[in-house]
Amino acid sequence: MSDLQGRDGHSRDGEDSPASIERVSIDAPQFQVAAAHPRRTERAVALTMLVGLCGFAGFGAAYFQAASNFWLGISLGIGFLGLGVGVVAWGKYLMPRGPFSESRHELSSTEEEREKFVEDLASRGTVAVERRGFLVKILAAASAVLGIVSLFPLLRSLGPLPKNLFYVTKWKKGSYLTTAEGQRVHKDDVLTGGVLTVFPENDVGGALSQTMLVRVGEPGQNMVTMPSRKNWGPEGYLAFSKVCTHAGCPVALYQQLTHQLLCPCHQSLFDIGNGQPGVPVFGPAPRPLPQLPLYVDSQGYLRSRAGFNEPIGPGFWERGGTE
Ligand code: FES
Repeated sequence: MSDLQGRDGHSRDGEDSPASIERVSIDAPQFQVAAAHPRRTERAVALTMLVGLCGFAGFGAAYFQAASNFWLGISLGIGFLGLGVGVVAWGKYLMPRGPFSESRHELSSTEEEREKFVEDLASRGTVAVERRGFLVKILAAASAVLGIVSLFPLLRSLGPLPKNLFYVTKWKKGSYLTTAEGQRVHKDDVLTGGVLTVFPENDVGGALSQTMLVRVGEPGQNMVTMPSRKNWGPEGYLAFSKVCTHAGCPVALYQQLTHQLLCPCHQSLFDIGNGQPGVPVFGPAPRPLPQLPLYVDSQGYLRSRAGFNEPIGPGFWERGGTE
């Protein structure tokens, strides 16, 4: 049995025979709590921790109500303050004062010594254990509330799922090409070498739908950028997403001589002439601009055959290519 010695000199020397183990009275000073009125102190500690629990619960409610940072901070502060003060007071006033020292010169105990120890421990009373059981429940409840409300920011701030938002725009089969003023674009509206920013009628001004319409060729000329896109460019027109595949800036410039679209943000150049389907030839853009398939209806208006052939926008989607 190891040596247990209190401040007042009571000791049990493990090197003696088990019969010589000194029993320290439960009344010894080191086993007494510091509180003059333990029951009253216990109630005060419980109350403090309950205040902390309410603070955490209030934080959860405030977060769900989208309350201001002031109330979030106040409620969380009350939670941690109440719980912290309660735990510290519990340890300081309701636990045996000690100090206790344990000699290490003997590392094992005989069977008889262990039996003596259990007997000795059992005879020391259970006052402190009863108090601890009550407070542990409050501590566990406060910790559980804290654990739950700490999930709130995660659950509430994630927002709705994007679903297929990253993959589609408002362009669909039959959409009229429309100017920023809402006017439908006729095939005679743009001269060769001219450009126009167009949108579908149901999303005029939409950031994801903005499209560069370029009249690369002459009237009557069918523009083919890839073998699989033979009927995508009627009357000399081609249309590409205006959202740069690098970082999303508007690809707003067209160089007629080289048949290239230019993104002014980081100077990415996209080839759209000579059978090139918007392939980046300079700059950081990682993939081609998605092309919008066009046709001219019976009244001469430009319309889309379908939506974009691939997700528009920055290259982090890591999709697309040249088919
Ligand atoms: S956003 Fe277009 S090149 Fe960077």
